[in-house]
Amino acid sequence: MTDVEARIPQSRTGPEIDQLAPDFEARTTRGMVRLSDYRGKWLIFFSHPADFTPVCTTEFMSFERHSNAFDKLNCALLGLSVDSVFSHIAWVKDIEANFGVKITFPIIEDISMEISRAYGMVHERSSTTAAVRSVYFIDPDGYVRSMIHYPANVGRSVPEILRVLAALQLSDAQNVATPENWSPGDKAVRLPPLDQSEADARSEEKDSVWYVTEIEGGKNG
Ligand code: BEZ
Repeated sequence: MTDVEARIPQSRTGPEIDQLAPDFEARTTRGMVRLSDYRGKWLIFFSHPADFTPVCTTEFMSFERHSNAFDKLNCALLGLSVDSVFSHIAWVKDIEANFGVKITFPIIEDISMEISRAYGMVHERSSTTAAVRSVYFIDPDGYVRSMIHYPANVGRSVPEILRVLAALQLSDAQNVATPENWSPGDKAVRLPPLDQSEADARSEEKDSVWYVTEIEGGKNG
């Protein structure tokens, strides 16, 4: 295969938005975990390329520092990398000793890469032996509602992950959409009109363009 051919996308693996998240049972730093045990809660399921690396360490500390905000949104955190549980334990102990941050969420060992491959967290052009920085937003019914993938050398923004989570919850609760860079408390927007008469009605409203109509958004946590 030529280099150019290798860059042509093949069919992607892993769940798509609005598909059920694949269930699994896995060993973690906090004992065995089954994905379906999280039903009834939101879940941020995220992968990192490797333990004892700089960007991953900063991300882990930020996830932990924001754990109260995730709790308020009825959301659990679950990490994963292809490292062993012993490596994970050594790393989180080291983070606590060096940075004073105690990591309390479970971290999956995925040495076989079975779970990371099922979720499309291994992007072969980046690495065949490690996951990229993937985040799956899984709702209380077990459906994937959003996902992000960053390369190993770019750290994620935990406040952005919280923002997307709050937006998903608001749109579920109030059947609205959220505009660019929406934050809790900001106005949301109505979903697009379904037909001409609805478009006409919206045109009549004050301060409304038929295809962009703001609406008060709830605080949502
Ligand atoms: C990091 O977490 O710093 C990192 C991990 C793998 C490759 C590059 C950076």
